[in-house]
Amino acid sequence: MPDVWAAFPDLDAAMQERLAGVLETRGADPQQRKMRETFLADVPFPNDARVLEVGCGTGVTTRTIALRPNVGTVVGVDVAPFLLNKARDLAQGLHNVTFREADGRSLPFEAETFDVVVFDTTLTHVPGPERALAEALRVLGTGKMPYPVPWAASRTSCLRTGRRLSHVASSHPALSFRALS
Ligand SMILES: C[S@@+](CC[C@H](N)C(=O)[O-])C[C@H]1O[C@@H](n2cnc3c(N)ncnc32)[C@H](O)[C@@H]1O
Repeated sequence: MPDVWAAFPDLDAAMQERLAGVLETRGADPQQRKMRETFLADVPFPNDARVLEVGCGTGVTTRTIALRPNVGTVVGVDVAPFLLNKARDLAQGLHNVTFREADGRSLPFEAETFDVVVFDTTLTHVPGPERALAEALRVLGTGKMPYPVPWAASRTSCLRTGRRLSHVASSHPALSFRALS
């Protein structure tokens, strides 16, 4: 079965609408909320942090990040214009959030633009995840870590992504990936 999140803009309008709803329903689920808060509580946001979320979808996590202590600004990028439009509507009233169309494998930002980069259930859906990770490291700059949320629809796709990312990790001593069973 093809990965719907890997080529979202190619889906028909009805399917895009349905999947946008799935992201918001998932995001509102109490257990998912708790997992998101637990994950973000472990991220050491520096004071006035500049944060990037790659593959933001409708912006569930982007909005959550925007409200966390220490966060200055947060940018959500995604390849899907439909999802970005939803994200902009849903984030109205949050003045430290912007959204931009961009491919995580070729980010339109200078090196060292961000303090924190988050991938929430995105890396496993990006064809060529090692390029997205390398881009995250570039826009972060020396000594900063990307934070991937390690969730995927299947163990196989997790393992495949983990293997590919190990190549990038091997050139960055601070990074390592392992499969959790
Ligand atoms: C499972 S959704 C997660 C959305 C959001 N992070 C959340 O947790 O609600 C994966 C997202 O990755 C995006 N995506 C897939 N390939 C991408 C790429 N190459 N660059 C940026 N985003 C991508 C999809 O369009 C989709 O919005």
